Amino acid sequence: MYSELYYIIYVIIFILIIYFSYIYYISYKNISNMSNINNIDYKKFDNKVIVITGSTTGIGESIVYDLINNSNATFFLLNRDSTNQKIFFNNLQEKIKNTKIKNKIYHIMCDLTEFDSVVNGYKKIISYFSDGIDILINNAGISNTNNDITINGYNKQIQTNFISHALLTQLFLNYMKNKDKKLEVINISSISYYIPYKMYDEKYFDKIDSSKIYQNMFTSQIYYQQSKLAILLYTNYLNNEIVKNNKNIKIFCVHPGICKTNLFDKSNLPFILKYILNNSMNNSDFASKFILNTILNDEIKEENFYGINPIYNIPEITEKNGLVNDKCSKKLYMFTEKILKNYLHIY
Ligand SMILES: NC(=O)c1ccc[n+]([C@@H]2O[C@H](COP(=O)([O-])OP(=O)(O)OC[C@H]3O[C@@H](n4cnc5c(N)ncnc54)[C@H](OP(=O)(O)O)[C@@H]3O)[C@@H](O)[C@H]2O)c1
Repeated sequence: MYSELYYIIYVIIFILIIYFSYIYYISYKNISNMSNINNIDYKKFDNKVIVITGSTTGIGESIVYDLINNSNATFFLLNRDSTNQKIFFNNLQEKIKNTKIKNKIYHIMCDLTEFDSVVNGYKKIISYFSDGIDILINNAGISNTNNDITINGYNKQIQTNFISHALLTQLFLNYMKNKDKKLEVINISSISYYIPYKMYDEKYFDKIDSSKIYQNMFTSQIYYQQSKLAILLYTNYLNNEIVKNNKNIKIFCVHPGICKTNLFDKSNLPFILKYILNNSMNNSDFASKFILNTILNDEIKEENFYGINPIYNIPEITEKNGLVNDKCSKKLYMFTEKILKNYLHIY
């Protein structure tokens, strides 16, 4: 009896030693690689018009503060009405109240669970800037939440993470089509696109019958996985078929690494998993700098997927696997067009 107990204690101590060594290793690598990531030529963001979704906390907030501190860009911050939004708004107002940049920040209410709200956000932006925008960062997201249905009838993770961002992207692509101006679209995906390893399946993107909702952690992860896979597929199709040979448009996906933000706290993941994810990884500044670096890197190829390797914590090109293929990309694009057609022909 006692020997069994000792054995269990030894195993637990062993696992803890491995775990904390891993954290130490990650932190060490993190610092050694930060030097490259910190080399950002912020001047290149001067006078750019940047639209970003979900800037109240986490990666979005870090990107905004980093750019406000170091550049002279104009910002459209697309956020929903939430407690976080109010706190973010007040803190930002306080920080910029005596600066010139205060006239260059536009707060736009935009709830990604409602297509009308996305279209209204877009209309407001072009009413301020009829010349169009330079950079769109599709950042907002939720992960492993309840499988709730949105006002438009879709799964909340699918609409927030994917369909609404596809809508926003299409609206700007259509608008910028006839303008002689560059547009860069950065989609924040995740390596979760292959966890679990599941092909794109239309049923997760279709309207949902409320009597058929399954509230369990596994389905919730599948919705997250499918939403992040969809961003990669959609980007793939846009690059292959829609914007090919258009030198003015660049669209690509990044994985920001695993970093401590509100994402996991707001999820339904088990406590122990939240604890590990929140404690063993980067902070959002690291992810933000990686994303800004990627935006400025002219060598970035649209067909690649850029990310922070979650084990070695270094920026890398992640090989896309069989889940990202042209056949699924086309199927998803066609399906999404049907969902969005009523919202795309607004003029
Ligand atoms: N953190 C990671 O390790 C990690 C890893 C891979 C990918 N990502 C991706 O990185 C992106 C940013 O996430 P984060 O980690 O920075 O998480 P976060 O701190 O939770 O930030 C998410 C942002 O999205 C906003 N948002 C959520 N639902 C929205 C809605 N319906 N309408 C408008 N905005 C909404 C949130 O607004 P509220 O404050 O109002 O909720 C918040 O501003 C996400 O796409 C996520 O999937 C993160």
